[in-house]
Amino acid sequence: MNQFITFEGIEGSGKTTQLKMLLTWLRTRFDRVLHTREPGGTAIGDEIRAILLDPAHTEMAPEAEILLFSAARAQIVRQVIRPHLEQGWIVVCDRFYDSTLAYQGYGHGLPLDALRQITHFATGGLKPDLTIYLDIEPEFGLRRKAKTPEEWNRMEAKELAFHRRVRAGYLALVEEEPERWYVVDARQPVQVVQEAIRARVAALLRVAPS
Ligand code: TYD
Repeated sequence: MNQFITFEGIEGSGKTTQLKMLLTWLRTRFDRVLHTREPGGTAIGDEIRAILLDPAHTEMAPEAEILLFSAARAQIVRQVIRPHLEQGWIVVCDRFYDSTLAYQGYGHGLPLDALRQITHFATGGLKPDLTIYLDIEPEFGLRRKAKTPEEWNRMEAKELAFHRRVRAGYLALVEEEPERWYVVDARQPVQVVQEAIRARVAALLRVAPS
């Protein structure tokens, strides 16, 4: 069953807006559509997320960060994602293990081999059928958020250079596995981006796009 869809993109790419619009559209066509998010989506995951995003935790080691993301992921896969996929649900997840490879691997420079092993252990080998990547230059993305630095969460406050590495990482992941990814130019108007995403998802699910 080709029913596990994930969304990826840097801050300000419009990922969450586009994901919500897609969900609305999917729900007019399918009864069983589940929306989850990473990190979070379970009671355990939400607590882990609060630790990860707490601006006070400036001392957090990247290795600790990875294991926390992975712990949340291990839980959501077993408690939520896999059981729903097995029962025929379409599962749309806001971020999945590609975020770890892009942010912790390419962004922080942690060894990709180790990250792949950890994420494989966490997911039990579960892979998305389709990953929608909203591509945008970090300069545009961070500006689009239009927040003052004080309002940025700990992750968002990281420097532009970091986001540039994350974006390059996503593009490298796309190149590795082009058949799994769908790249959309996120600088386009919201509706244009959404139409492109719907067309791709419609093809995956074998329904009409409009
Ligand atoms: P969130 O507020 O959910 O942001 P967004 O709307 O951009 O998804 O914060 C999630 C942050 O965590 C985001 O900066 C990306 C980061 N992240 C990682 O660094 N590694 C990961 O494995 C995941 C899932 C997220």
